[in-house]
Amino acid sequence: MRKNIVAGNWKMNTNLTEGIDLARGIASQNPNDKVELIIAPPFTHLSEIHNIIKDSKVFLAAQNVSEHTSGAYTGEVAANMLKSVGVGLVIIGHSERRAYFKESGEALFKKIKNALAEGMKVIYCVGEGLEEREKGMQNEVVKKQLEESLFLLSEQEMSNVIIAYEPVWAIGTGKTASPEQAQEMHSFIRKSVQAKYGQAISDTISLLYGGSCKPSNAQELFAQKDIDGGLIGGAALKAEDFLKIANSFS
Ligand code: PGA
Repeated sequence: MRKNIVAGNWKMNTNLTEGIDLARGIASQNPNDKVELIIAPPFTHLSEIHNIIKDSKVFLAAQNVSEHTSGAYTGEVAANMLKSVGVGLVIIGHSERRAYFKESGEALFKKIKNALAEGMKVIYCVGEGLEEREKGMQNEVVKKQLEESLFLLSEQEMSNVIIAYEPVWAIGTGKTASPEQAQEMHSFIRKSVQAKYGQAISDTISLLYGGSCKPSNAQELFAQKDIDGGLIGGAALKAEDFLKIANSFS
C-alpha cells in the first residue's frame, strides 16, 4: 500500500503570525485517514509551528537545506539544525531553486544525503520546462534529474524519499497538466524507479503531482493510478483549500 500525501509548500509567504494562523487552521481539522498532511513553512516559522502541530497528524517539512553540514556558510541552514527544531522532511530540487539559485544535480545530491543522514525524509522535485515539453523532451529531462541526484542513493535511503513531479510550465501559472499528461509522467517515473530499485520500492514510493493543483482539479488528478497526492503551492496558503485538496482522494 502506498501512502497518499498532500504537502503544502508555502514558499516565501506569510509572516510568523499569519503562518501560525494557517498552521492552526490546518492542524485543527482532522484529515481523513486516507491522507498524510505535510506543511513546509519558511525557516523562521519552523520552531513555533512545530509546537503547534506536534500533537496533530500534520508533519513538518523545510523548503531547503544546506549542502554543507556546518561551519562558515553565512545564511545557510544545516540538516541537523532543521532536525533539532522538529522538521521531519525536506523539499529538495524545487524548480525555483534549480532555476533562480542555480542548484546543480551534484549540490542536490549532497542536500539529499544530509537530510537523510539526519533521519529526515526527502521530497525530491523533478519537472521539465515549457520549451522542453514542446520539444517532447520531458522524459529525458526528468530521467536526468532522477539519475544525477536521486539514483545514487542506496535502496535503504530510497525508501525515505517521496518524488514530486512538477512541470515548470504548470507552477503558479494556473495551467495544470491534464490528468493524462500527469499520469503518463508518473508512470514513467515509477518505471524508472522500478528499473533501478526493483518492484518493492517502486510499488511503495509515493509520487506527488505539483503545479496549479487546487480543490477543483485535485480529485481528477489523484484518481490517476500512479498519482499518490500533491505538492501544493498557492492553494496551500488557505487552510480551507488545502484541506479540500486533502479530502480529494476517492
Ligand atoms: P503552485 O506551486 O501550486 O502554486 O503551482 C506548486 C509548487 O511549486 O510546489
